[in-house]
Amino acid sequence: MIRKAVIPAAGFGTRFLPATKAQPKEMLPIIDTPTIQYVVQEAIDSGIDDILIVSGKGKRAIEDHFDRNHELEMELEGKADEAMYNEMLRISDMANIHYIRQKELRGLADAIYHARLHTADEPFAVLLGDTIVDSVIPVTQQLIDIHEQFGRTVIGVEIVPKDKVSRYGIVGGEQVSDSILNVTELVEKPSTEESPSNLAIAGRYILTPEIYKSIEQTEVGKNDEMQLTDALRLLLRRESIASYTIEGKRYDIGNKLDYLKTTVEFALRRKEFAEPFARFLQETLQARGVDQAITGKGTAQTIEEEHER
Ligand code: G1P
Repeated sequence: MIRKAVIPAAGFGTRFLPATKAQPKEMLPIIDTPTIQYVVQEAIDSGIDDILIVSGKGKRAIEDHFDRNHELEMELEGKADEAMYNEMLRISDMANIHYIRQKELRGLADAIYHARLHTADEPFAVLLGDTIVDSVIPVTQQLIDIHEQFGRTVIGVEIVPKDKVSRYGIVGGEQVSDSILNVTELVEKPSTEESPSNLAIAGRYILTPEIYKSIEQTEVGKNDEMQLTDALRLLLRRESIASYTIEGKRYDIGNKLDYLKTTVEFALRRKEFAEPFARFLQETLQARGVDQAITGKGTAQTIEEEHER
């Protein structure tokens, strides 16, 4: 049974500067909800109620967001917007959230290593704090189901275009079923030539406590950081690992174009915005003649564009 989740959220967010100079990238809102709230909700929807957020310098806003704000509650209480008052209370009571600070940014593997006392000898879920996955079944739940079937480390992956593999950790291995691989290779951000496949690590994992021993043996890798992908490769010597092609759409909030696309898609799904916002988009595109340009080229949205980062 998976009871605990770890959400690494200590990174600088350099891909989103200057917005992330003085605020955490995990707090960037999709309309009105910070990215990390979607991530916490996914963990809760997957049956997890104990969450450890690995935070760092400049990340206080995350703690404040999941804390009570009595002044604000007093301001909202008894006023017209009772729903918002209740929502404020719900957010501060969503889960049992713990925090630990990563004092030096030494990479994802090091961030996860900070969770070792908290998760102790239990397997746990990892959800990257700047990635949202929209799916019918919460993607962490999908991975938990596979973990319960095979009892081992499970990495959520998705298919990416060959020329985008260098942006991700990539897995390779033997096919067990359409969506499951017995992993034999793991490479962080390989070149197209050295990539074992086009299955990219999607920011969701179920890890066993054995990972901590592997992290201790992990050396500094790509981008001068301790990579979780490298620790998982070391783990392969002692334990087998499965990858599972997740069912859902992944949004990487840490890059500007994906962030914009996510905001538009989520707005079009919101009841109160769908119609006026769709009309606005249509009018704007028409006024600019962009729709003709697109039709002229005949380009529907390609998978490549979906993964543009
Ligand atoms: C991290 C992981 C990488 C994974 C990616 C998913 O990279 O190291 O293996 O594919 O997240 O978003 P980052 O995006 O932090 O460079």
